[in-house]
Amino acid sequence: MGTIEQGTAGGENLLAGSRFIRACLRKPVDRTPVWFLRQAGRYMQEYREVRKHHTLVEICKQPELAAEVTITAAEKLGVDAAIIFADLLLPLDPMGLDFEFQAGEGPVVHHPVRTAEDVRLLRTDRAADLEYVALAIQKVAAHFRDRLGIIGFCGAPYTLASYMIEGGGSRNYIETKKLMYGNPLAWGSLLDKLVTVLTEYCRLQVLAGAEVIQIFDSWVGSLGLADYQAYAFEASKRLVRAVQEMGVPVIYFGVETAGLLKAMASTGADVIGLDWRQPIDEGWHAVGHAHAVQGNLDPITLFAPVEILEQRVKEVLRSAGGRAGHIFNLGHGIVPGTPVENVQAVVKMVHDFRLENAHG
Ligand code: CP3
Repeated sequence: MGTIEQGTAGGENLLAGSRFIRACLRKPVDRTPVWFLRQAGRYMQEYREVRKHHTLVEICKQPELAAEVTITAAEKLGVDAAIIFADLLLPLDPMGLDFEFQAGEGPVVHHPVRTAEDVRLLRTDRAADLEYVALAIQKVAAHFRDRLGIIGFCGAPYTLASYMIEGGGSRNYIETKKLMYGNPLAWGSLLDKLVTVLTEYCRLQVLAGAEVIQIFDSWVGSLGLADYQAYAFEASKRLVRAVQEMGVPVIYFGVETAGLLKAMASTGADVIGLDWRQPIDEGWHAVGHAHAVQGNLDPITLFAPVEILEQRVKEVLRSAGGRAGHIFNLGHGIVPGTPVENVQAVVKMVHDFRLENAHG
Protein backbone atom coordinates (compact mmCIF):
# COMPACT_ATOMS: atom_id res chain seq x y z
CA MET A 1 0.00 0.00 0.00
CA GLY A 2 1.60 3.26 -1.11
CA THR A 3 1.39 6.36 1.02
CA ILE A 4 2.22 9.94 0.20
CA GLU A 5 5.14 9.83 2.65
CA GLN A 6 6.76 7.05 0.64
CA GLY A 7 7.19 9.24 -2.47
CA THR A 8 9.53 7.78 -5.11
CA ALA A 9 10.35 8.51 -8.74
CA GLY A 10 6.80 7.39 -9.43
CA GLY A 11 5.60 9.79 -6.75
CA GLU A 12 2.78 11.25 -8.82
CA ASN A 13 1.31 7.79 -9.34
CA LEU A 14 1.87 6.76 -5.78
CA LEU A 15 -0.06 9.79 -4.65
CA ALA A 16 -2.97 8.89 -6.92
CA GLY A 17 -3.03 5.27 -5.83
CA SER A 18 -3.01 6.11 -2.18
CA ARG A 19 -5.87 8.60 -2.44
CA PHE A 20 -8.50 5.89 -2.34
CA ILE A 21 -6.93 3.91 0.50
CA ARG A 22 -6.30 7.06 2.48
CA ALA A 23 -9.95 8.04 2.17
CA CYS A 24 -11.03 4.56 3.34
CA LEU A 25 -8.94 5.21 6.46
CA ARG A 26 -10.30 8.79 6.84
CA LYS A 27 -6.93 10.37 6.17
CA PRO A 28 -6.74 13.70 4.32
CA VAL A 29 -6.48 13.50 0.52
CA ASP A 30 -5.50 15.93 -2.24
CA ARG A 31 -8.78 15.24 -4.11
CA THR A 32 -11.84 13.15 -3.40
CA PRO A 33 -11.24 9.66 -4.84
CA VAL A 34 -13.85 8.31 -7.24
CA TRP A 35 -14.81 4.95 -8.72
CA PHE A 36 -18.12 3.43 -9.82
CA LEU A 37 -20.14 0.40 -8.85
CA ARG A 38 -20.33 -1.80 -11.99
CA GLN A 39 -17.71 0.30 -13.74
CA ALA A 40 -16.96 -2.66 -16.02
CA GLY A 41 -20.19 -3.71 -17.68
CA ARG A 42 -22.50 -3.69 -20.64
CA TYR A 43 -22.65 0.10 -20.95
CA MET A 44 -19.04 -0.09 -22.17
CA GLN A 45 -18.31 -1.04 -25.79
CA GLU A 46 -15.06 -2.83 -24.90
CA TYR A 47 -16.93 -5.08 -22.46
CA ARG A 48 -19.67 -5.85 -24.98
CA GLU A 49 -16.96 -6.92 -27.44
CA VAL A 50 -15.50 -9.41 -24.94
CA ARG A 51 -19.04 -10.61 -24.09
CA LYS A 52 -19.69 -11.42 -27.76
CA HIS A 53 -17.18 -14.26 -27.45
CA HIS A 54 -17.53 -15.31 -23.80
CA THR A 55 -20.25 -15.77 -21.21
CA LEU A 56 -20.13 -13.78 -17.99
CA VAL A 57 -18.94 -16.81 -16.04
CA GLU A 58 -16.26 -17.59 -18.64
CA ILE A 59 -14.88 -14.08 -18.24
CA CYS A 60 -14.85 -14.49 -14.45
CA LYS A 61 -13.10 -17.88 -14.64
CA GLN A 62 -10.36 -16.84 -17.05
CA PRO A 63 -8.00 -14.59 -15.07
CA GLU A 64 -6.54 -13.10 -18.24
CA LEU A 65 -9.98 -11.96 -19.41
CA ALA A 66 -11.22 -10.85 -16.00
CA ALA A 67 -8.07 -8.78 -15.52
CA GLU A 68 -8.35 -7.27 -18.97
CA VAL A 69 -11.95 -6.22 -18.42
CA THR A 70 -11.10 -4.77 -14.99
CA ILE A 71 -8.10 -2.83 -16.26
CA THR A 72 -9.74 -1.53 -19.44
CA ALA A 73 -12.68 -0.05 -17.55
CA ALA A 74 -10.57 1.57 -14.84
CA GLU A 75 -8.15 3.10 -17.36
CA LYS A 76 -10.84 4.30 -19.71
CA LEU A 77 -12.62 6.11 -16.89
CA GLY A 78 -9.55 7.48 -15.08
CA VAL A 79 -10.90 6.37 -11.70
CA ASP A 80 -8.93 5.97 -8.46
CA ALA A 81 -9.77 2.31 -7.85
CA ALA A 82 -10.35 -0.87 -9.82
CA ILE A 83 -12.87 -3.45 -8.61
CA ILE A 84 -12.03 -6.95 -9.71
CA PHE A 85 -14.33 -8.30 -12.40
CA ALA A 86 -16.20 -11.21 -10.82
CA ASP A 87 -19.76 -11.87 -9.67
CA LEU A 88 -21.48 -12.07 -6.34
CA LEU A 89 -22.75 -15.58 -7.01
CA LEU A 90 -19.43 -17.32 -7.77
CA PRO A 91 -19.11 -18.82 -4.24
CA LEU A 92 -22.37 -20.73 -4.77
CA ASP A 93 -20.55 -23.10 -7.08
CA PRO A 94 -18.02 -24.51 -4.56
CA MET A 95 -20.82 -24.67 -1.99
CA GLY A 96 -22.60 -27.10 -4.32
CA LEU A 97 -25.27 -24.93 -5.96
CA ASP A 98 -25.50 -24.70 -9.76
CA PHE A 99 -26.51 -21.39 -11.24
CA GLU A 100 -26.51 -19.64 -14.57
CA PHE A 101 -27.12 -16.17 -15.93
CA GLN A 102 -30.06 -16.15 -18.31
CA ALA A 103 -30.12 -13.35 -20.87
CA GLY A 104 -32.17 -10.47 -19.58
CA GLU A 105 -33.31 -12.40 -16.51
CA GLY A 106 -30.34 -12.20 -14.18
CA PRO A 107 -29.05 -15.17 -12.20
CA VAL A 108 -31.00 -18.41 -11.76
CA VAL A 109 -30.08 -21.00 -9.11
CA HIS A 110 -31.34 -24.39 -10.26
CA HIS A 111 -32.09 -26.06 -6.95
CA PRO A 112 -32.65 -23.31 -4.41
CA VAL A 113 -32.05 -23.92 -0.72
CA ARG A 114 -35.41 -24.35 1.04
CA THR A 115 -35.00 -26.83 3.90
CA ALA A 116 -32.68 -27.65 6.78
CA GLU A 117 -31.47 -30.64 4.77
CA ASP A 118 -30.60 -28.38 1.82
CA VAL A 119 -28.54 -26.25 4.20
CA ARG A 120 -26.85 -29.32 5.66
CA LEU A 121 -25.70 -30.42 2.19
CA LEU A 122 -23.92 -27.14 1.42
CA ARG A 123 -20.15 -27.56 1.40
CA THR A 124 -17.74 -25.18 3.08
CA ASP A 125 -14.41 -26.86 2.26
CA ARG A 126 -13.91 -25.78 -1.33
CA ALA A 127 -13.40 -22.02 -1.22
CA ALA A 128 -9.98 -22.65 -2.80
CA ASP A 129 -11.83 -23.45 -6.04
CA LEU A 130 -12.31 -19.67 -6.33
CA GLU A 131 -8.58 -19.25 -6.86
CA TYR A 132 -9.24 -17.97 -10.39
CA VAL A 133 -10.48 -14.69 -8.84
CA ALA A 134 -7.22 -14.40 -6.91
CA LEU A 135 -5.22 -15.02 -10.09
CA ALA A 136 -7.12 -12.21 -11.81
CA ILE A 137 -6.42 -9.89 -8.86
CA GLN A 138 -2.71 -10.71 -9.09
CA LYS A 139 -2.69 -9.62 -12.71
CA VAL A 140 -4.59 -6.41 -11.98
CA ALA A 141 -2.33 -5.62 -9.03
CA ALA A 142 0.79 -6.25 -11.12
CA HIS A 143 -0.56 -3.92 -13.79
CA PHE A 144 -1.51 -1.01 -11.56
CA ARG A 145 1.06 -1.49 -8.80
CA ASP A 146 0.44 1.50 -6.52
CA ARG A 147 -1.29 3.57 -9.17
CA LEU A 148 -4.87 2.59 -8.32
CA GLY A 149 -6.57 1.02 -5.33
CA ILE A 150 -7.42 -2.65 -5.96
CA ILE A 151 -10.81 -3.70 -4.61
CA GLY A 152 -11.80 -7.30 -4.02
CA PHE A 153 -15.38 -8.13 -3.09
CA CYS A 154 -17.92 -10.66 -1.96
CA GLY A 155 -21.60 -10.75 -1.11
CA ALA A 156 -22.75 -10.34 2.46
CA PRO A 157 -24.22 -13.44 4.12
CA TYR A 158 -27.82 -12.13 4.05
CA THR A 159 -27.74 -11.09 0.40
CA LEU A 160 -26.11 -14.33 -0.75
CA ALA A 161 -28.51 -16.39 1.38
CA SER A 162 -31.41 -14.60 -0.31
CA TYR A 163 -30.11 -15.62 -3.76
CA MET A 164 -29.59 -19.20 -2.61
CA ILE A 165 -33.10 -19.44 -1.18
CA GLU A 166 -35.11 -17.45 -3.74
CA GLY A 167 -33.18 -18.99 -6.63
CA GLY A 168 -32.63 -15.55 -8.16
CA GLY A 169 -33.63 -11.94 -7.69
CA SER A 170 -36.78 -11.27 -5.69
CA ARG A 171 -39.34 -8.59 -5.00
CA ASN A 172 -40.66 -9.67 -1.61
CA TYR A 173 -38.12 -12.21 -0.29
CA ILE A 174 -40.92 -14.51 0.79
CA GLU A 175 -38.93 -17.76 0.73
CA THR A 176 -35.96 -16.10 2.42
CA LYS A 177 -38.08 -14.75 5.25
CA LYS A 178 -40.02 -18.02 5.55
CA LEU A 179 -36.78 -19.85 6.31
CA MET A 180 -35.44 -17.03 8.49
CA TYR A 181 -38.56 -16.85 10.68
CA GLY A 182 -39.67 -20.46 10.37
CA ASN A 183 -36.40 -22.26 10.94
CA PRO A 184 -33.94 -20.00 12.75
CA LEU A 185 -31.58 -22.93 13.34
CA ALA A 186 -31.27 -23.72 9.64
CA TRP A 187 -31.02 -19.99 8.91
CA GLY A 188 -28.20 -19.61 11.43
CA SER A 189 -26.41 -22.61 10.01
CA LEU A 190 -26.71 -21.23 6.46
CA LEU A 191 -25.22 -17.89 7.50
CA ASP A 192 -22.43 -19.63 9.44
CA LYS A 193 -21.54 -21.64 6.36
CA LEU A 194 -21.52 -18.53 4.23
CA VAL A 195 -19.25 -16.71 6.68
CA THR A 196 -16.82 -19.64 6.58
CA VAL A 197 -16.65 -19.73 2.78
CA LEU A 198 -16.65 -15.94 2.31
CA THR A 199 -13.86 -15.47 4.85
CA GLU A 200 -11.65 -17.90 2.95
CA TYR A 201 -12.66 -16.34 -0.36
CA CYS A 202 -11.69 -12.89 0.92
CA ARG A 203 -8.42 -14.28 2.24
CA LEU A 204 -7.53 -15.54 -1.25
CA GLN A 205 -8.27 -12.09 -2.63
CA VAL A 206 -6.27 -10.22 0.00
CA LEU A 207 -3.27 -12.54 -0.39
CA ALA A 208 -3.43 -11.93 -4.14
CA GLY A 209 -3.26 -8.16 -3.72
CA ALA A 210 -6.73 -6.82 -2.93
CA GLU A 211 -6.14 -3.73 -0.77
CA VAL A 212 -9.76 -3.25 0.25
CA ILE A 213 -12.71 -5.65 0.37
CA GLN A 214 -16.19 -4.43 -0.45
CA ILE A 215 -18.99 -6.52 1.05
CA PHE A 216 -22.18 -6.18 -1.00
CA ASP A 217 -25.31 -6.45 1.11
CA SER A 218 -27.29 -5.25 -1.88
CA TRP A 219 -30.68 -6.53 -0.72
CA VAL A 220 -30.38 -5.89 3.03
CA GLY A 221 -32.82 -3.00 2.61
CA SER A 222 -35.55 -5.66 2.44
CA LEU A 223 -35.14 -6.08 6.21
CA GLY A 224 -36.54 -3.82 8.91
CA LEU A 225 -34.14 -2.80 11.66
CA ALA A 226 -35.32 -5.41 14.16
CA ASP A 227 -34.95 -8.22 11.62
CA TYR A 228 -31.57 -6.93 10.49
CA GLN A 229 -30.40 -7.05 14.07
CA ALA A 230 -31.94 -10.44 14.80
CA TYR A 231 -31.09 -12.28 11.58
CA ALA A 232 -28.31 -10.61 9.57
CA PHE A 233 -26.12 -8.33 11.66
CA GLU A 234 -24.03 -10.92 13.54
CA ALA A 235 -22.96 -12.79 10.43
CA SER A 236 -22.03 -9.57 8.63
CA LYS A 237 -20.11 -8.36 11.63
CA ARG A 238 -18.14 -11.60 11.86
CA LEU A 239 -17.21 -11.37 8.20
CA VAL A 240 -16.22 -7.69 8.49
CA ARG A 241 -14.01 -8.40 11.50
CA ALA A 242 -12.42 -11.47 9.91
CA VAL A 243 -11.47 -9.47 6.81
CA GLN A 244 -10.11 -6.58 8.88
CA GLU A 245 -7.90 -9.07 10.71
CA MET A 246 -6.30 -9.79 7.34
CA GLY A 247 -5.08 -6.18 7.43
CA VAL A 248 -7.34 -4.47 4.90
CA PRO A 249 -10.20 -1.97 5.26
CA VAL A 250 -13.77 -3.07 4.54
CA ILE A 251 -16.47 -1.20 2.64
CA TYR A 252 -19.95 -2.41 3.62
CA PHE A 253 -22.54 -1.55 0.99
CA GLY A 254 -26.31 -1.80 0.79
CA VAL A 255 -29.26 -0.10 -0.91
CA GLU A 256 -32.38 1.42 0.70
CA THR A 257 -30.60 1.26 4.01
CA ALA A 258 -31.51 4.66 5.52
CA GLY A 259 -33.05 2.96 8.57
CA LEU A 260 -30.18 0.48 8.94
CA LEU A 261 -27.13 2.72 8.67
CA LYS A 262 -26.32 2.97 12.33
CA ALA A 263 -26.62 -0.78 12.79
CA MET A 264 -24.57 -1.45 9.65
CA ALA A 265 -21.85 0.85 10.98
CA SER A 266 -21.72 -1.10 14.21
CA THR A 267 -20.36 -4.09 12.26
CA GLY A 268 -17.18 -2.01 12.52
CA ALA A 269 -16.77 -1.64 8.74
CA ASP A 270 -14.32 1.14 7.85
CA VAL A 271 -16.51 2.55 5.08
CA ILE A 272 -20.30 2.46 4.70
CA GLY A 273 -21.90 2.71 1.25
CA LEU A 274 -24.74 5.24 0.99
CA ASP A 275 -27.49 5.29 -1.62
CA TRP A 276 -28.96 8.49 -3.07
CA ARG A 277 -32.23 8.54 -1.15
CA GLN A 278 -30.92 10.89 1.49
CA PRO A 279 -28.26 13.62 1.30
CA ILE A 280 -24.79 12.35 2.12
CA ASP A 281 -24.43 14.55 5.23
CA GLU A 282 -27.56 12.97 6.73
CA GLY A 283 -26.39 9.48 5.87
CA TRP A 284 -22.95 10.20 7.28
CA HIS A 285 -24.48 11.59 10.45
CA ALA A 286 -26.44 8.34 10.87
CA VAL A 287 -23.33 6.24 10.19
CA GLY A 288 -21.22 8.34 12.54
CA HIS A 289 -18.09 10.27 11.64
CA ALA A 290 -15.83 7.54 12.99
CA HIS A 291 -16.50 5.78 9.65
CA ALA A 292 -15.76 6.81 6.09
CA VAL A 293 -18.63 6.84 3.58
CA GLN A 294 -18.94 6.01 -0.10
CA GLY A 295 -21.54 7.36 -2.50
CA ASN A 296 -24.03 8.56 -3.39
CA LEU A 297 -25.05 9.83 -6.84
CA ASP A 298 -28.22 8.32 -8.31
CA PRO A 299 -26.87 6.17 -11.20
CA ILE A 300 -29.69 7.36 -13.46
CA THR A 301 -28.42 10.95 -13.14
CA LEU A 302 -25.81 9.78 -15.66
CA PHE A 303 -28.57 10.04 -18.30
CA ALA A 304 -29.30 13.70 -17.44
CA PRO A 305 -28.06 16.77 -19.37
CA VAL A 306 -24.51 17.52 -18.30
CA GLU A 307 -25.51 20.73 -16.42
CA ILE A 308 -27.88 18.77 -14.20
CA LEU A 309 -25.31 16.03 -13.76
CA GLU A 310 -22.75 18.62 -12.67
CA GLN A 311 -25.19 20.17 -10.20
CA ARG A 312 -25.86 16.79 -8.64
CA VAL A 313 -22.18 15.84 -8.47
CA LYS A 314 -21.39 19.13 -6.75
CA GLU A 315 -24.28 18.64 -4.34
CA VAL A 316 -22.81 15.32 -3.28
CA LEU A 317 -19.37 16.84 -2.82
CA ARG A 318 -20.66 19.90 -0.95
CA SER A 319 -22.80 17.71 1.25
CA ALA A 320 -19.71 15.65 2.12
CA GLY A 321 -18.22 19.01 3.06
CA GLY A 322 -14.57 18.18 2.46
CA ARG A 323 -14.53 15.97 5.54
CA ALA A 324 -11.78 13.31 5.39
CA GLY A 325 -13.21 9.92 4.52
CA HIS A 326 -15.48 10.48 1.53
CA ILE A 327 -15.17 8.25 -1.53
CA PHE A 328 -17.28 9.46 -4.44
CA ASN A 329 -19.37 6.75 -6.08
CA LEU A 330 -22.90 6.03 -7.23
CA GLY A 331 -25.59 4.87 -4.85
CA HIS A 332 -25.88 1.68 -6.93
CA GLY A 333 -24.40 0.22 -10.12
CA ILE A 334 -24.09 1.79 -13.56
CA VAL A 335 -26.91 0.45 -15.75
CA PRO A 336 -26.72 -0.66 -19.41
CA GLY A 337 -27.15 2.24 -21.84
CA THR A 338 -25.36 4.78 -19.64
CA PRO A 339 -23.32 7.18 -21.82
CA VAL A 340 -19.64 6.45 -21.11
CA GLU A 341 -18.70 10.08 -21.72
CA ASN A 342 -20.94 11.13 -18.84
CA VAL A 343 -19.19 8.70 -16.52
CA GLN A 344 -15.84 10.11 -17.65
CA ALA A 345 -17.18 13.64 -17.14
CA VAL A 346 -18.09 12.81 -13.55
CA VAL A 347 -14.53 11.67 -12.84
CA LYS A 348 -13.26 15.01 -14.11
CA MET A 349 -15.86 16.96 -12.12
CA VAL A 350 -14.90 15.17 -8.92
CA HIS A 351 -11.18 15.60 -9.51
CA ASP A 352 -11.57 19.29 -10.44
CA PHE A 353 -13.82 20.11 -7.50
CA ARG A 354 -12.51 22.46 -4.82
CA LEU A 355 -14.71 23.17 -1.86
CA GLU A 356 -13.70 26.82 -1.51
CA ASN A 357 -15.14 27.79 -4.93
CA ALA A 358 -18.03 25.37 -4.78
CA HIS A 359 -20.69 27.92 -3.98
CA GLY A 360 -20.43 30.12 -7.09
O1 CP3 B 1 -17.16 -3.39 -12.48
C1 CP3 B 1 -17.92 -4.14 -11.85
O2 CP3 B 1 -18.51 -3.78 -10.81
C2 CP3 B 1 -18.14 -5.50 -12.42
C3 CP3 B 1 -17.97 -6.63 -11.49
C4 CP3 B 1 -19.30 -7.09 -10.89
C5 CP3 B 1 -20.27 -7.89 -11.56
N1 CP3 B 1 -21.21 -8.23 -10.62
C6 CP3 B 1 -20.26 -8.34 -12.96
C7 CP3 B 1 -21.56 -8.51 -13.62
C8 CP3 B 1 -19.71 -6.91 -9.58
C9 CP3 B 1 -19.06 -6.07 -8.48
C10 CP3 B 1 -20.92 -7.64 -9.43
C11 CP3 B 1 -21.63 -7.75 -8.15
C12 CP3 B 1 -23.00 -8.26 -8.15
N2 CP3 B 1 -23.51 -9.29 -8.86
C13 CP3 B 1 -23.99 -7.82 -7.27
C14 CP3 B 1 -23.80 -6.77 -6.21
C15 CP3 B 1 -23.79 -5.43 -6.79
C16 CP3 B 1 -25.13 -4.80 -6.87
O3 CP3 B 1 -25.50 -4.44 -7.99
O4 CP3 B 1 -25.77 -4.64 -5.83
C17 CP3 B 1 -25.14 -8.55 -7.53
C18 CP3 B 1 -26.48 -8.37 -6.85
C19 CP3 B 1 -24.83 -9.49 -8.52
C20 CP3 B 1 -25.70 -10.54 -9.09
C21 CP3 B 1 -25.95 -10.27 -10.52
N3 CP3 B 1 -25.01 -10.43 -11.52
C22 CP3 B 1 -27.15 -9.85 -11.12
C23 CP3 B 1 -28.44 -9.54 -10.38
C24 CP3 B 1 -26.91 -9.77 -12.49
C25 CP3 B 1 -27.88 -9.47 -13.58
C26 CP3 B 1 -28.20 -8.04 -13.63
C27 CP3 B 1 -28.24 -7.54 -15.02
O5 CP3 B 1 -28.05 -6.33 -15.12
O6 CP3 B 1 -28.47 -8.31 -15.96
C28 CP3 B 1 -25.55 -10.10 -12.71
C29 CP3 B 1 -24.86 -10.10 -14.01
C30 CP3 B 1 -23.60 -9.28 -14.10
N4 CP3 B 1 -22.57 -9.35 -13.21
C31 CP3 B 1 -23.25 -8.36 -15.15
C32 CP3 B 1 -21.97 -7.89 -14.86
C33 CP3 B 1 -21.15 -6.93 -15.65
C34 CP3 B 1 -24.09 -7.98 -16.35
C35 CP3 B 1 -24.48 -9.13 -17.16
C36 CP3 B 1 -23.61 -9.62 -18.28
O7 CP3 B 1 -22.51 -9.15 -18.63
O8 CP3 B 1 -24.11 -10.56 -18.90
